[in-house]
Amino acid sequence: MQAFDSSSEQVARKIVVLGTGGTIAGLAAAAGDNLGYQAAQVGIAQLLQGVSSGSVDAIQTEQVAQIDSKDMDASVWRALAMRCAHWLADDSVQGIVITHGTDTLEETAYFLHATLAPAKPVVLTCAMRPANAAMPDGPQNLRDAMAVASTAGARGVLAVCAGVVHGAPDVRKVHAYRLDAFGSGDAGPIGYVEEGALRQVRDWPQAARACAPRQWPVTPEAWARVEIVTSHAGAGGALVQALVRDGVQGLVVAATGNGSVHHALEAALHQAQAAGVRVLRTSRCDQGRVMGAAAGALPHAGPLSPVKARIQLMLELMA
Ligand code: SIN
Repeated sequence: MQAFDSSSEQVARKIVVLGTGGTIAGLAAAAGDNLGYQAAQVGIAQLLQGVSSGSVDAIQTEQVAQIDSKDMDASVWRALAMRCAHWLADDSVQGIVITHGTDTLEETAYFLHATLAPAKPVVLTCAMRPANAAMPDGPQNLRDAMAVASTAGARGVLAVCAGVVHGAPDVRKVHAYRLDAFGSGDAGPIGYVEEGALRQVRDWPQAARACAPRQWPVTPEAWARVEIVTSHAGAGGALVQALVRDGVQGLVVAATGNGSVHHALEAALHQAQAAGVRVLRTSRCDQGRVMGAAAGALPHAGPLSPVKARIQLMLELMA
């Protein structure tokens, strides 16, 4: 087991901050309203005003998108991956920070992990309260993310929220309201940001097999179509049959427990597979992984959550 220096040294170089929207850039009509706000209203340059940059030499900002992350799609992922690839290749850049909505942060993080496998840090951060809340959490999260991005030796796609540093393969939104809204399941977090310094407790994310940037389609409709279906009490095959008729190329099933699927849904998935649709089983449980397989079982995605398995399958279908 590698030993980590709990007082990781920070280097003073350029940090690029890419804005994509989210609650961190949200505005509420009344400062005390942490629920009825509009996400993605404040520009990234304005968000950084008043956020102390610690030991960072220079900050460069870019507004890549301005959306509520529930509306995230492949065209924004493509634009974001291309801007990250551009800045990662610049020797003067120490790391990248991305401001993002919490709702699909884990999907964007996994997409960038799978496509860039960066040797520098790419740190996503977010907020659960809008920018003009009476007690906003965004400025502290942004400051913490910059501290991680400027830490010497930091690498990989990371997520920073409420002082906790997660790796892209493991991070999931686990709470709908709390400021500490993310978890890393069994793997646990990579570290913690304390008074502007990273205390690392495990290694950086393992670099994934990078598969970008290639000539991805510009419009989301032109990407491989992969849908998620859920196995539950009373599940049937009608949804799967309709999706196959509609030309779906891949199906991820959010299965019960260790990847078990209701027999009626399973029969439809086997028929879809026989018709040339790629099928992957995942678990709808928040923690753990799908292990082992009975003879003839549908293939499984191991530790990947349904939304991350969907991204993996999309990328494989387009490879
Ligand atoms: C979003 O995901 O863009 C809105 C919700 C949030 O950031 O917490």
